[in-house]
Amino acid sequence: MKKFTGIVLLFTILLSMEAPSCDGANILGIFGSHSPSHVIVHMAMMKTLADRGHNITVVTQMKPKLKAHENITVVLAPPTPEREKYIKEYMSQITAEKPSIWTTFFKAIVKSGDQFEAQYEFAVHPNFKEIYENPHTKFDLVFLGMMGNDFQLGVAAKLKCPVIMTWVGVPIQILDSIVGNVADPAFVPSLNVALEPGQITMRFGQRLLNFFKHSFLKLLNVLMNYKMNEFYERAFGNESDPDFPTYAEVKRRVSLLFYNYHAPSEGPIRPVVPQSIEIGGIQVKEQPDPLPKDIAEFLGNATDGAIFFSLGTNVDTNTFSPKVFEIIYKVLSKLPQRVIWKWQDLNNKPGNASNIYFGNWLPQDDILAHPNTKLFITHAGKGGVAESQFHGVPMVALPLFADQQGNAEILTTAGFGRWLEILTLTEDELESTIKDVLENPTYREAIGKFSSLYRDRPLTARQSVIYWTEYVLRHQGAYHLQSPEIHLDFVARNNIDVYGVVLLVNLISFLIFLVIVRWVFRKVLKCFTKSNKSKTD
Ligand SMILES: *[C@@H]1O[C@H](CO)[C@@H](O)[C@H](O)[C@H]1NC(C)=O
Ligand SMILES: *[C@@H]1O[C@H](CO)[C@@H](O)[C@H](O)[C@H]1NC(C)=O
Ligand SMILES: *[C@@H]1O[C@H](CO)[C@@H](O)[C@H](O)[C@H]1NC(C)=O
Ligand SMILES: *[C@@H]1O[C@H](CO)[C@@H](O)[C@H](O)[C@H]1NC(C)=O
Ligand SMILES: *[C@@H]1O[C@H](CO)[C@@H](O)[C@H](O)[C@H]1NC(C)=O
Repeated sequence: MKKFTGIVLLFTILLSMEAPSCDGANILGIFGSHSPSHVIVHMAMMKTLADRGHNITVVTQMKPKLKAHENITVVLAPPTPEREKYIKEYMSQITAEKPSIWTTFFKAIVKSGDQFEAQYEFAVHPNFKEIYENPHTKFDLVFLGMMGNDFQLGVAAKLKCPVIMTWVGVPIQILDSIVGNVADPAFVPSLNVALEPGQITMRFGQRLLNFFKHSFLKLLNVLMNYKMNEFYERAFGNESDPDFPTYAEVKRRVSLLFYNYHAPSEGPIRPVVPQSIEIGGIQVKEQPDPLPKDIAEFLGNATDGAIFFSLGTNVDTNTFSPKVFEIIYKVLSKLPQRVIWKWQDLNNKPGNASNIYFGNWLPQDDILAHPNTKLFITHAGKGGVAESQFHGVPMVALPLFADQQGNAEILTTAGFGRWLEILTLTEDELESTIKDVLENPTYREAIGKFSSLYRDRPLTARQSVIYWTEYVLRHQGAYHLQSPEIHLDFVARNNIDVYGVVLLVNLISFLIFLVIVRWVFRKVLKCFTKSNKSKTD
């Protein structure tokens, strides 16, 4: 009888344990980036999973611009006022200079201390700590948005659950090295090396430049690793648990890398490991939502077509060069097309032209999906470019900083539009460029062709996010997809020990060969002198 109750008890326990795992999982998203456009991409993934019925908790530094969702809890860990002021200054400073990949790199290094410090403050913010220090919180999976915050992988170790890294573009070297993607500079273009449409390989000059960029990034990666290890020690080094992993170990416990890129359409093809999952275009809705009534009317009545103009979320229109906006306003207000212009301060508009609609929060994706939208004037952020490509809308790019100039060059060489230097912009130049992109059909054809390739995949971006996330949940991690490379140390990874042995064997064989030759030579010489002697005797 006692035995029987024992079995019944066991069954009840097993059943009650089984129940919650059938429903949605508890997922934690850590998205501490200061860039709203990054957060948009990460939140698109979270929304996909929340719609699916998973229970999502997101920690960010700023309130994401997303409609409240019953399955998403947002926990804010905002920066201190001094830090916030510093970030604002930094952003407006880098927008005021001519964007170049090298100045961006340089700044990234000089200012990286502050960036990392900000990420550290975020990681140990009491609101955030409460999540991972609380013994009662139970998560099944962690998502970490990558941006100079690799040490935050430690949070997944604290919560003892698998982690998926997310990134907003083509994987950069730092991420490639974590999962073991091949980043060979002979055929994998580095940051901002653009190939022309149809060009499969880099020319000599491009390979040379690529080699230097690649080597520079590799060096940066070494420094970065060193720094990240320091921050990891600071944030998680006080763990009393003797099994708590080191930074190097935690990096080898990554399940997957989700990145916002689609190689077959965006190109070029690069060799990636099965741990790398493309989710290019995740922030683009497969079906547009209905537009707000006023915008729908404004666009619907645009018989000459419409232009959408937005410099994204990083630019403060109050501090950025007013002369530039004057020029842009003069050109746009003269056009027969209607213009939807993203403008922050609606009490202080550049003008009152009847063909322009100003708004400070606009549903960019739904506007680009509208059939009357004929042109997108953009700062060429990755997200906006992807939306335009998805909907087949040609672009005029006015890049501001960081990767935007690279994106602008790529979209220009691909024939999706043209790009202009924003700080030296003139009226004539802007007007003729806008007219060219609107009237010349090649831009619309090129981007239309791209759009059809972009949409043609076995799983849509959203389906990929759901499939691969639930794959990790089902198998409690995806460690079996890892490349052996990441488990090798420097010597083994580069086969230095093997080459050493080969060299040694060759050297020894050569020495033996020399000894034999010498021995044979002496023998022959001896015979020879002997026979000579006997002849003369
Ligand atoms: C939230 O999750 C539940 C299941 O946990 C699901 O039934 C519901 O549809 C989700 N809500 C939304 C808005 O998708
Ligand atoms: C969902 O997540 C929130 C926030 O972390 C938590 O309070 C809640 O209990 C979770 N719900 C379920 C059903 O696990
Ligand atoms: C770890 O301990 C050191 C020295 O005891 C302290 O300065 C530091 O703030 C601690 N770090 C955390 C994250 O608690
Ligand atoms: C659009 O046209 C309709 C009638 O055709 C008119 O009632 C409405 O005011 C127009 N809207 C705008 C924003 O011009
Ligand atoms: C636009 O119109 C408003 C209200 O009529 C006026 O206050 C403002 O000065 C005008 N702006 C410009 C740039 O003309």
